Amino acid sequence: MPNIAFVNGKWSSISAAKVSVEDRGFQFGDGVYELIRTYQGEVFHLDEHLSRLEASAKEIEITLPYTGSRLEKIIRLGCRKSGFTDVKIYIQVTRGAAPRLHSFPKKVKPTVVMTFREFEPLPLKLREEGVAIISTPDIRWARCNVKSLNLLPNVMGREQALRAGAFEAIFIRDGKVTEGAGSNLFAVLGKKIITPPAGPYILSGITREVVLRIGKENGLEMVEKELKLSQLYSADELFLTGTTVEVLPVVRLDGKPIGDGRPGEKTKFLCRAFQEQIASK
Ligand code: PDD
Repeated sequence: MPNIAFVNGKWSSISAAKVSVEDRGFQFGDGVYELIRTYQGEVFHLDEHLSRLEASAKEIEITLPYTGSRLEKIIRLGCRKSGFTDVKIYIQVTRGAAPRLHSFPKKVKPTVVMTFREFEPLPLKLREEGVAIISTPDIRWARCNVKSLNLLPNVMGREQALRAGAFEAIFIRDGKVTEGAGSNLFAVLGKKIITPPAGPYILSGITREVVLRIGKENGLEMVEKELKLSQLYSADELFLTGTTVEVLPVVRLDGKPIGDGRPGEKTKFLCRAFQEQIASK
């Protein structure tokens, strides 16, 4: 099965796909992106991903060169062409290619890149046993709601986590938790299941929204409010959400066990409910 790419209307293998060295995505990280996946051939919450892509582009004054319905057609065609049932789809939209000047070029056409690969699920062991995370200062800008191509702090944070033998780094801004390098965080404190509020300091994940909804539908007390790092150490349970991690139990933070050091009941319930919802579609 092929890994394929779409670059401004042209299809090729990913290894043959090319953009200009003057592309502002390469020169400045001047662009936005989305990661979308399919489950058994069904694209997961496509409308929400496309709306977020449009919102991110608008925030940095890029006009998407394709309408939502055109993007949807390209995505569905790419999935068919790739032939995979579980597809990992990246969409990158940059301001385009132009001689290097910081200010916006006058006449430039945005670059649209999509890649389609097989989605490799996380090892079952991680899901069953839970993962370790670390905390690290949030050195990102104050518009983290934009899914920007500028991911240096995320890249550095994730590497720091891996070097510490952990799976994810959680960012801390002014003593408060924001989110992971590539995921959102939830903490179970007694009956409450708390996640930091949407706003400029987090990317409000599509998975986060789905989990908030599933929890509420099942009578759980889902709360969006600020969380201090100190509250995480004494939390009963922690878990991450995201397109790649789905709902993933966290059992250690900065080397200290969370709860009894095993995935908690509420987390396991939400993991199951999330999987059931996918299976029922
Ligand atoms: N990132 N927060 C950040 C900083 C993220 O990068 C992501 C996802 C999320 C979760 O969002 P969602 O549930 O919509 O996937 C939260 C993807 C996985 C990535 O960068 O590859």
